Amino acid sequence: MCGPRDSEWISASPFSLMEVLVLEDDVNYEVVVTTLSMDGSPHAAAMGCRFLGQGSTIALRPHLSSQTAQNLLRWRSGVLNVTAPEYVVEAALDLGAVAMSFGVGEVVKAPVLREASAAIEFVVVEASEADVWLDVRGRPVAFRYRLTPVRPFSRSASLLVEAAVRLSRVEPFLSMGRRDDALRLWSEARSLLDDALRLSGGGDLRRLVEAVRGRLYSLEGLIPP
Ligand SMILES: Cc1cc2nc3c(=O)[nH]c(=O)nc-3n(C[C@H](O)[C@H](O)[C@H](O)COP(=O)(O)O)c2cc1C
Repeated sequence: MCGPRDSEWISASPFSLMEVLVLEDDVNYEVVVTTLSMDGSPHAAAMGCRFLGQGSTIALRPHLSSQTAQNLLRWRSGVLNVTAPEYVVEAALDLGAVAMSFGVGEVVKAPVLREASAAIEFVVVEASEADVWLDVRGRPVAFRYRLTPVRPFSRSASLLVEAAVRLSRVEPFLSMGRRDDALRLWSEARSLLDDALRLSGGGDLRRLVEAVRGRLYSLEGLIPP
């Protein structure tokens, strides 16, 4: 387990989240967005997000075809979960390699990732289509966090996140007929994974790198020659 589930949640005002999490306006942060699926089951996806207006607004850009976009449109709420990189990778690629468990929102009808170190519940204020994206503006309505020591920066984990970003785009590009872009992303992911593997030690992180490599090679067969 890579998350701090054992320490208690501390509930705080959503107005305090920028200060507590030491966030800056307009920086792209990578989180796990949790939403409720149509059938009521929890859904998790890695997404970039930005905070605007000193944290009074959050901005998200899920792909229009993503389950997250559909869930946000349906329920008008979700949760930004601040987590270790391993969960970001798992939520992006659905590898089944890192276990995730879910609690319930304090205010919104959306699941919360139990292994998160902070959870920001939000309601959707505005959602508009922009090309292949859904531009979402949300308002934070509840905030809780855990007091946990910060883990040291790991290049392996960081490279793995970069590889996951690229791999998560291979299939969407193929479905748009953009074979060359898909191949470029696949090749970049392979090179990032080589470095991630070299620096990954011999434990859980290495197993996750290997699971992502397994996904890499299963996607290779989908790219036309
Ligand atoms: C670090 C990271 C950031 C990502 N950010 C986004 C994003 O902002 N929008 C998006 O549509 N997909 C993003 N992805 C890809 C999604 O997590 C992935 O495609 C996901 O499976 C799609 O969402 P769904 O499960 O809701 O269909 C990101 C992936 C990673 C690894």
